[in-house]
Amino acid sequence: MDPRQELPALEGLLSEATRLGAAFRASLSDRPVMARAPFKPEGGLPDQGLGTAAVLGLLEARILPALSGSAGPRYLGFVTGGSTPAATVGDLLVAMTDQNLSDRSQATATAIEHHALALLRDLFGLPGAFEGAFVTGGTQANLVGLAVGRQWAAQRLGFDAAEDGLAGQPPIRLLAAAPHASLLKAAAVLGLGRRAWLPVACEPGTERMDLTSLASALAGLKGAPAVVAASAGTVTTTAFDDLARTADLCERHGAFLHVDGAFGLFAATVPALAGRLEGLQRADSVATDAHKWLNVPYDAGLLFTRHLALQEQVFKASAAYLSAGGDLFHRTPENSRRWRALPVWATLQAYGRSGVAEVVSRCCDLASALGDWIEASDAYDLLAPVDLNIVCFAPKHADPAVVLDRLAADGRCFLTPGAWQGRKGLRAAFSNFMTTGEDLALVQAALADAAQMERP
Ligand SMILES: Cc1ncc(COP(=O)(O)O)c(C=O)c1O
Repeated sequence: MDPRQELPALEGLLSEATRLGAAFRASLSDRPVMARAPFKPEGGLPDQGLGTAAVLGLLEARILPALSGSAGPRYLGFVTGGSTPAATVGDLLVAMTDQNLSDRSQATATAIEHHALALLRDLFGLPGAFEGAFVTGGTQANLVGLAVGRQWAAQRLGFDAAEDGLAGQPPIRLLAAAPHASLLKAAAVLGLGRRAWLPVACEPGTERMDLTSLASALAGLKGAPAVVAASAGTVTTTAFDDLARTADLCERHGAFLHVDGAFGLFAATVPALAGRLEGLQRADSVATDAHKWLNVPYDAGLLFTRHLALQEQVFKASAAYLSAGGDLFHRTPENSRRWRALPVWATLQAYGRSGVAEVVSRCCDLASALGDWIEASDAYDLLAPVDLNIVCFAPKHADPAVVLDRLAADGRCFLTPGAWQGRKGLRAAFSNFMTTGEDLALVQAALADAAQMERP
């Protein structure tokens, strides 16, 4: 079928898609959080094609009913949030306007990117010296941050890693206590190697970097430049490294400080939580994710760095046809990129600083209330104090895997496995803008049933 034939019907098709999407969103509170009977499409490539109306019919009849409620208020798995109305509208318009951001014709779209980055910098309390870039997610943001750190360290060693590679050069070490798995993936991709990681001890009973251990690891490098990856919110206990003192040590020993704040950076939005990020402004690069606590659709990571020139040495792309590529073009692994700034910009405009802060603080209150409930329960042990939005706990009498299976079959909420200090358990992460105390009551009821205990 020739797609041009459908252009006159586009508005009707879009209305139908919007109707389906809105009905899906309205069902999120009631739909099982774990998909029950996944739809498996079959059949080969159609020759003539079905037409979009028929595809919408298939979506309505077979696909949307089989989707999970992972965008909803009782998905407590990854810290991915949902999608606010403004972000959803923004994302729809990204597809409908399909801007090519890589050439100079897009002055307005790229101005929105710059504006969104400036608003985010303000939200996180980062000084103007930090330049930002949108990437696909936290993993890619960590990769870009480490790439800048690699370039920085190579420059001190007297070579250009982006131009000459790493062959025959001294190793560049990555120092971290509890790095997210994506940092090691980044080390692998960047040619540093996963074994570049020099593990630093944690303070006893925590995931916080022990600064005495960091100081002696840095001293052991005898002045060789290194990259320190600090955490601003780990995935199990939401630990924040002491960024100010880590920055002191990096300065003293000549190390680059990268901070992974994929979700923890949003603590900056709530005055009572912001102290956890003291010293953030002294980082060399900072990674975070808008598709986590900002509640915009997937595909919106962010990297801020004070070393734009080094970043551009790594990510520049030169060709005659690219010469009009715009400044954001040379900051990330992509050449072509989606206008992922628009949903971010739309949600920041629509709800402002206080709207973001209210979601963050409500999620933390809910996590804290769940932690209290766990502590008081006969069926579960709290494995780590609740400090932000994540609760890590274990059943007292049942196998955690069995409890998770029961929860999945029940469908009222979704949690992931967790583990802390050798004990396997469950992990509940709150980040969806829709989650309320009523959801918490349902989560508690589901947990009580799954542990087969008396309802409180
Ligand atoms: C601390 C941290 N860093 C990095 C990531 C990776 O982010 P993404 O899944 O968006 O690539 C996550 C994801 O949960 C995270 O929590």
